[in-house]
Amino acid sequence: MGNQAQRLDELDPLAEFRSKFVISDETVYLDGNSLGRMPLASRTRIEQLLQREWGERLVRSWGESWIDLPQRLGDKVGRLIGAVPGETVMADSTSVNFFKLATSALRAKSGRMKVVTEATNFPSDLYLLQGCVDLLGGGLEIVRLESHDGVHLPVEQIEAELDENTALLTLSHTAFKSGFVHDMKRLTEAAHAVGALVLWDLSHSVGAMPLSLSDYDVDLAVGCSYKYLNGGPGAPAFLYVRRDLQELLANPIWGWFGQKNAFDFGLDYQPADGVGRFLAGTPPIISMAAIEPGVDLLLDAGMEQVRAKSIAQTEFLIELWSKYLEPLDVSLNSPLSAQNRGSHVSLGHAEALRIDRALIEQKHVIPDFRRPDNIRFGVAPLYNSYHELEVAVLAMADVIKSRSYEEYPDTLSGVT
Ligand SMILES: Cc1ncc(COP(=O)(O)O)c(C=O)c1O
Repeated sequence: MGNQAQRLDELDPLAEFRSKFVISDETVYLDGNSLGRMPLASRTRIEQLLQREWGERLVRSWGESWIDLPQRLGDKVGRLIGAVPGETVMADSTSVNFFKLATSALRAKSGRMKVVTEATNFPSDLYLLQGCVDLLGGGLEIVRLESHDGVHLPVEQIEAELDENTALLTLSHTAFKSGFVHDMKRLTEAAHAVGALVLWDLSHSVGAMPLSLSDYDVDLAVGCSYKYLNGGPGAPAFLYVRRDLQELLANPIWGWFGQKNAFDFGLDYQPADGVGRFLAGTPPIISMAAIEPGVDLLLDAGMEQVRAKSIAQTEFLIELWSKYLEPLDVSLNSPLSAQNRGSHVSLGHAEALRIDRALIEQKHVIPDFRRPDNIRFGVAPLYNSYHELEVAVLAMADVIKSRSYEEYPDTLSGVT
């Protein structure tokens, strides 16, 4: 191990958290921005749920602990994003939640014809917006702002597009390819200044950095729980609606879990009070319960500490890139400034797809690949060490120098 990596690992105040995850071999896992590692406590929690709550208590468990899980766990996630209790619930997928909130916002602002977003947004969000516009009809237009370099989207460029005709501004707070982070405070204020609502996708920010939704008066937000929250594959997502907006907005999916008194089984829909109206059907309790241990670890570590380590680790990664990879024609496809960078670093190369495959199969280093040329190194501060970052960069340099990636085809295979 290099001296610097060793010293940084020795000084790391969060080092003990690595032992709280299932780590069964020497694989260098740098894909926590896609699917986080499994906390040891999640296994215990699920075993207890299967054995006692489902196995023995059966339907009684709904009343004993399950029925309010979306709200109770939502409030815990709310602490990570700077929401006050009663503003966040767990439900459905990020895509479905995005649809619910975008549709409710566009309805609330009917008469305004413009939705402002970015071409570097996650495609699902763009598809969902197209679906909303198709559903609502009436000449709504989506403006997709283009980044000049595929990485940055200056705040001024976005502000210039906002006007009295804008119904909704919706952006990924941290961009999924480049890791570029928007100025949430300034853009929320800018949207409000023209009377528009703002919907943030926090999927690549939650659990990676502290957020201040209440302080910034954010209207709406959604995000994934299987990335930095380590909630498990396909774990349900969260949604946030600022308290004073909850009674003004309508969930377009009128399901019984969003009904005022669901167990009265009345025949006419009446939305529940509060953020619970944005629920739809029965929550998937097993996968929802698996989210809590990962959230507890982050609350325990403290988001300021997590962000401090994330910045130190991405800085270290960039330092290693400039020493070992830049001379090999690898570009930095992420912001240089830590303030505008999330917890992953994208490195570009003309042969990125094959290099990614060689890293996984020859070197047991797992990043991921995003078109056209990005290898994303995701840093999850709770379990990644500085040593792992060094191993990954040296492995990538070796794969490029030896051209060992040439044994793989230049075609995508399955999930990357
Ligand atoms: C930024 C962002 N938004 C939305 C999604 C979609 O999430 P889901 O497939 O859980 O609906 C993802 C998935 O990776 C994402 O990265």
